[in-house]
Parts: sequence; C-alpha cells; structure tokens
Amino acid sequence: MLVDIIAGARPNFMKIAPIIHAIQKAEDNGSKLKYRLVHTGQHYDKKMSGDFFEQLNIPHPDVNLESGSGTQAEQTAKIMVRYEALLLEKPCDLALVVGDVTSTMACSIAAKKLNIKVAHVEAGIRSFDLSMPEEINRMVTDSITDYFFTTSERANINLKKAGVQDERIFFVGNTMIDTLLKNRSRFMKPEVWDELKLNESGYIVMTLHRPANVDEEHKLKDLIQEIVDHSQGIPLVFPIHPRTAKVFENLGITHDNLHLIEPLPYLEFNFLVERASAVITDSGGITEETTVMGIPCMTLRDNTERPETCELGTNELLGTDPKAIGPAMAKLFSGQWKKGGIPQLWDGRTAERIIECLNKL
Ligand code: UD1
Repeated sequence: MLVDIIAGARPNFMKIAPIIHAIQKAEDNGSKLKYRLVHTGQHYDKKMSGDFFEQLNIPHPDVNLESGSGTQAEQTAKIMVRYEALLLEKPCDLALVVGDVTSTMACSIAAKKLNIKVAHVEAGIRSFDLSMPEEINRMVTDSITDYFFTTSERANINLKKAGVQDERIFFVGNTMIDTLLKNRSRFMKPEVWDELKLNESGYIVMTLHRPANVDEEHKLKDLIQEIVDHSQGIPLVFPIHPRTAKVFENLGITHDNLHLIEPLPYLEFNFLVERASAVITDSGGITEETTVMGIPCMTLRDNTERPETCELGTNELLGTDPKAIGPAMAKLFSGQWKKGGIPQLWDGRTAERIIECLNKL
C-alpha cells in the first residue's frame, strides 16, 4: 500500500517525522507499507521549513508542489490543482494528512475526489471558532476523512457527536510529542542564549502569529506593550514569524528587554522553551509542548482546540484583551502557576500505533 504523507507548513514537520521513521522501520521489517513524501511548499523558507527537515532527519520530499504564499483561496487552489495532477499521474492508495493547515484540507479534498482514502492525524479537535482558518480546515478535512487518528478523548467525543462510527476512530496519542520526547536530549543552545546572557527560568519566550492578534497594527502593539510593561524587566525572547514581522516593522516598538530574533529551528526553540520561566503564545502546538515539559504557558486566544492543555496541563487561556496579561504575569512571578500533568497516550509511541493500524487496513 502506497501512503502519501502530506506536509506543508511548519507545524506539520514535527508531526510527520515520527510517522516516516516508523514506516521506514516497518518497511525494514517486511511490511507492505510504502510512502511518498509530498511537500506542498506552503512554507518554503529555510527557517520555516528546511531547518526542520534537517534537524528532524526527515528525508528529502519525493515531490514538492511549490505552492508558495497567497490568500487562503489561492493557496488552497494551487495545492489542490497540483496535488490532483500528481495523483492523476501517479496515484497512491491512501493520503495521510496531519494537523489543520491549508495543505491538510486542500490535499484531503483532492485525494477524496479521486476516491482515494484519507487518514487524518490529529483529527477531531475543535475550537468551535469559525473565524480561524484552521477550524475550517479541521472541519472540512474531518468531514471527508476515512481513518481518524486522535490525540485526546475529547477529540473522540467530537467525532462521535458528528456521526463518525467508532471503528474509524483510532485514539493513538500525539505524534508532536513523539518528536519532542525523542529529541529532548538533543536540544541545542541557540546563539541568543549567550548573546543575551540568559539564565534558566530567567526569561520569557513569546510567539505570536494568529491573524486575530497580528494583522492589525494597534492590536499587536497593545499586546506587546502590555507584556513589556508587566515583565518586571526580564528578557522577552521573541522569535518572530514572517507574518508578524511584516506588521511589526511598522509599529515602532523598541524596548530594552524585548528581543526580536528570526524564527528558530526546532532543537534551538525547544531548548529555550524548556528553560523558560514561561511562554506567551497564540500557537496550538506549543501549548502541548509546554504541557509535556511542565512550563507555564499563557495563550493569547479566546478558545482552544486543545482543552486538555488547560484542564490538565500548564496552559491558561488569557483571551485577546491585553488587560488579562498583568494579572497572569503577577501569578507567574509569585510562583502560583499550576504544575500540570501529561495527557493520556502522549508517551512517545504514537507513530508506532498509527503504523500498526495502517498495517491492518
Ligand atoms: C500557517 C498555518 C497555521 C500555523 C502556522 C505556523 C494555515 C491556515 N495556517 O499560518 O495554522 O500555525 O502556519 O507557522 O495553514 N511566509 C514566509 N515564509 C514562509 C512561509 C510563509 O515569508 O516560509 C509568509 C507568507 O508569505 C505569508 C505569511 O508568512 O505572508 C503567512 O504564511 P501562511 O502560510 O499563509 O500562514 P501562516 O500564518 O504561516
């Protein structure tokens, strides 16, 4: 059985790495599973893509659709047209998509319309916030998925409520955490550590890229100003996403303890996170990594598709009103942040379970 493994944007790469390694191992042990790695080209910079392939030992893609940047519709259309052309020329038996980015949705539609089965890794999670492109991507993908690989009981419930039969849901855990646990001993000190003379638990890591937070200048400015004002002077290390960088340039904010740096490769980024006093983010995946590493996490969003990171883990939703930042920082600095626990099956063996399931199809 030939499985297309689809990856397009930065948060996909840590999710596919362990799946590819598990398929390679299965192939060596005589399994009939074969894979073809398809990069859609949604993220194309070395810093957003190439570095992750290198560090996570992901093989060079068999195909690169080179879709590049564009509006949501342009990106979706380009990826669909190019993936369909590939499938018409060289079909696969199963398209395996991960996460919730535009590439996930676009490739699942292209495959399904050619009657190719679709497997979705990280299926069933929901923010119920349709203003986020990722929620639309999740809903559309799951509406045409054949095999649902899930990270949480909540995801299972969401799928069952939507009418998905039990036998198509495989609760396997979290492949992003496979990658985290496998690479934890390889985390690498980034240059900024020495440049800024950072100390363990003596700085905060920030990441912001959601359109709701970064696309309007005044919103981004208010959020950052409030963080700076309540940070008690400790360094704020801000690896800045290209989308945010474009808006940030116009804000004219500079501050002694606010340090903007280029997006970091995986091993360097997580070195910083593992030693930070806290992370302030609007990402989804980072809330899972901080939960597993026990690092306090403040999420600048009104909702999350990963409620277990709040209920069990170290994450707290602050919303997008900058006024919530002060009290949260006060709680952090007074040592009152919750310690958190680790969700079920986030144990580093998820990709193996996925391959076991695929082997039985
Ligand atoms: C995408 C995902 C989001 C994920 C994020 C992580 C969707 C809908 N969103 O958002 O879920 O959390 O990636 O990074 O798929 N750009 C570059 N270089 C690159 C890639 C992008 O400069 O390598 C620029 C683009 O030109 C664009 C902006 O960054 O202006 C946004 O990129 P895009 O892929 O549209 O979405 P993200 O905001 O990165």
